Amino acid sequence: MPSTSFEDHDDAPIHVFDLPQIHTKPAPQVLLDTLSLLTSQPPSWDAGDTEEADASANALAKRRRRSNAFRPPPARVDEAGLTRYLTNIIGSDLQWIDDDATKEEIWEQVSLRLSERSGRNAMPAMSRSFRVPTAERDVKITIHEPTLTADNLGLKTWASSYMLAKRLHTIPTPSGLTPDFPVLELGSGTGLVGIAAAAVWGASVTLTDLPEIVPNLSRNIDANQATIQAGGGSASAAVLDWSMSDEISPFTLGSSPFDANSSSAGFPIILAADSLYSPEHPRLFVQTIKRWLRQSADARVIVELPLREAYSPEIKDFKERMQDIGLHILDQSEEVGYDDWGWNNSGRSGQQKVNCWWSIWGWQ
Ligand SMILES: C[S@@+](CC[C@H](N)C(=O)[O-])C[C@H]1O[C@@H](n2cnc3c(N)ncnc32)[C@H](O)[C@@H]1O
Repeated sequence: MPSTSFEDHDDAPIHVFDLPQIHTKPAPQVLLDTLSLLTSQPPSWDAGDTEEADASANALAKRRRRSNAFRPPPARVDEAGLTRYLTNIIGSDLQWIDDDATKEEIWEQVSLRLSERSGRNAMPAMSRSFRVPTAERDVKITIHEPTLTADNLGLKTWASSYMLAKRLHTIPTPSGLTPDFPVLELGSGTGLVGIAAAAVWGASVTLTDLPEIVPNLSRNIDANQATIQAGGGSASAAVLDWSMSDEISPFTLGSSPFDANSSSAGFPIILAADSLYSPEHPRLFVQTIKRWLRQSADARVIVELPLREAYSPEIKDFKERMQDIGLHILDQSEEVGYDDWGWNNSGRSGQQKVNCWWSIWGWQ
């Protein structure tokens, strides 16, 4: 019989690395068992001594006998890392699992675990205001966040995007550009960074993301038109899937500055926040940067990422790939931001600290 309450466990949160990692291609039942044990409502090993609880406990015990790689059910998991762990599963095509129904069941269970952890998911859609400094004053950017659905992480605003939005006014932009110079944002989500860039720099920003994210992105651009125009900038939304990095709509990009044969092809600045949370992301993200960054000495990539331990391999991979394509870090530092996504260590939803790393890259 397993321990039946959270209080029975010691206080240290379990690290997500102690859970079966998706890159090791765990057996479907191992994933389903783990997802069952991660239920954040009274979980199956909790007080309700149902048959289901016993089945889960037995499955876990069996697995522990088979392998030492997995620890007992966590009293408390590092919830911030857990959100990433769950989204990693959703982002995987689970190609080693033959049965489509089993795959669907796994994705469904992950969606449920994410929903349970989203205090905000239970809430109706909401709009929030962010104060962003410019050289002269603060501007207010209003961001609409629809109810979060499954894996659509771009429907919420993440800590590092607010940190980057607030940092923009301190970052020198390449000299010699027209006032409304073009900027590309990758993985814009709700659009806070791109909208801020248009308002703070007076730039012409193309905010991009996956097709399902773009409608809310457009909505947020429209809602902040007055602020963008007051800053002398402009903004538009477009689909740009990093796995198909050539497929940004030519209509959105206009023609002349993006003529592939022109020396001014590409964007002099690319922005991104919180864009690496699956093993494939560094490769896809960097190949997209390579495709769209202007080949000029003053071209810049400005990225801010949360420093989640579970995702340090992605950050390492990102740095190596950036260097491989000829980019190097010109400036970087760490800072602390706040997020109201996920649950804190006492198991309640609320604000939590997020350590973030920002970096500015240029061609070598
Ligand atoms: C964690 S969210 C960050 C959103 C926003 N930058 C922020 O910080 O609030 C990651 C974003 O990357 C986008 N994304 C993930 N994979 C992508 C891909 N293959 N192509 C384009 N965007 C992608 C997601 O849709 C999502 O909007």
